[in-house]
Formats: sequence, C-alpha cells, structure tokens
Amino acid sequence: MASALRRPLIAGNWKMNLTLAQSVDLAKLVSGGFGSASGEVAVCVPFTAITVVGEILKGTGVRLGGQDCHWEASGAFTGEISAGQLRDAGCQMVIIGHSERRRLFGETDEHVNKKLGAALKCGLTPIVCVGETLEERETQKTWRVLETQIAGGLKGFAPSELAQAVVAYEPVWAIGTGKTASPAQAQEAHLFIRSQLKKVHGGSFAAGCRILYGGSVTADNVDSLMAQADVDGALVGGASLKKDFLRIMGFRAA
Ligand code: PGA
Repeated sequence: MASALRRPLIAGNWKMNLTLAQSVDLAKLVSGGFGSASGEVAVCVPFTAITVVGEILKGTGVRLGGQDCHWEASGAFTGEISAGQLRDAGCQMVIIGHSERRRLFGETDEHVNKKLGAALKCGLTPIVCVGETLEERETQKTWRVLETQIAGGLKGFAPSELAQAVVAYEPVWAIGTGKTASPAQAQEAHLFIRSQLKKVHGGSFAAGCRILYGGSVTADNVDSLMAQADVDGALVGGASLKKDFLRIMGFRAA
C-alpha cells in the first residue's frame, strides 16, 4: 500500500454465517474497534442481516456491503436481490463475482460485467473478485485467467464510471484453506492486475484503483501482505467472524 492515492480497505465477508443476534454482536465488536483501524473498514453481510447491522453501524464509519446483487433493477427473479435494493437497505458496497459465486453458482465474466454496471448505477462501491484455481496456477494459466477476468468483468465502462471500483485478487486455492499466498506471490499478482487495469482503462485509473488481497488472511499474516506496494487492503472471510478481525483492521504495514 505504498501509494498515498489509495486508501487501504479491510473488508469482512461474512458469507452465509451467523444468526441475527450473532450479527449484532459482531457488528458491535467491529464498530467498537474502528477507532484503531488503519484505513477504511467494511463488512459484507448476509442479505437478512443488512438492516440490523446497518442500524448498529450508523454513524460509526464502518461501511456496509452486500455479498452479491442481480443486474436487473426489479422483476420476476425469485430469490435475487437488486443493487438498488441493497442501496435502499443501507449498503454502500457490494462484492461481485466472488469465486464461490463463479464456482458453485455458475457466474461468468459476463454476469460480473452486468452486475458491475448495476452496482455503479446505484452508487454502490463494487468489489470485483478475480483469481485463479490451483490447477490454473499449476499449469501456468494464472496470468491468462486474470487477464480474461479483468477484461471481461470491467469491459465497456469509462475510467470515470469505474472511479469507485475496487478489485480483489483472491486465488481460489487460498480461500478458506489456510494456504495464504506469500506476500511475494500476492505482490506479483497485484502488479500484474494493475498492469491489466492500465492496459484497459489507462494509467491514472490503474494508479488509483485499490486492489485487495483475499484468501486466508489472518491477524498473523496481514502486516506482511499489507507491506507490499500493490496490496491496498484485504477481503477477509473466516477471520472476519472472529475477534482477530480487529487486529486485521489495525494492520501495520511496515
Ligand atoms: P477466507 O475467505 O479469508 O476465509 O479465505 C476469503 C474470501 O472468500 O473472501
């Protein structure tokens, strides 16, 4: 996070976890610890918890996000939630194209692109996730996968429209596995992603775009990841459900 152009962001992804009562407790814990955060903080919570968590976060500085949205504004899409509904419920952010959505629910770069458009239109900060599988890494396809996901996911938008967009590099092999990318691996991938952003959307957009790392981030490894020049924050799954998240929020980038 060497660049002063990019304010660090630590975002928790609660995934499909917690009751409402547990969500309230965790939101209180996170907002209570916000004073010692080293940058911006957000929690991306299950749809059912958005309003209760929003009440607790109001006025605290911790931002609220959803974990997915549909690209249409409204209509006959049983089970889906629109970007406008997230906004209406109090969200400022939304995760788009998480690898679990891609892998388990068939999301493609085209879906990601449409969801991104919906999020931007509603004034939500999108966190667009990209990342290679273990097989892709082992067969030297990492750069091709990242290039395709960035080009397909972000295509058709002017840099000015994308000004709020955040990218998250989440190698699939590191998510929920306890196998974090090494700081050097993360830096290499982030630098590559930034070069792709530059190719598609220009140098000033690339220089200002925050790229988060996600995949088994913990209180123990956050500092060394955040010390990398192109790592501008973290998208945190498992550890965002625990007290450790406070330490992650208060990372110290050497
Ligand atoms: P993890 O998840 O921190 O549990 O690996 C990260 C993510 O999926 O965003």
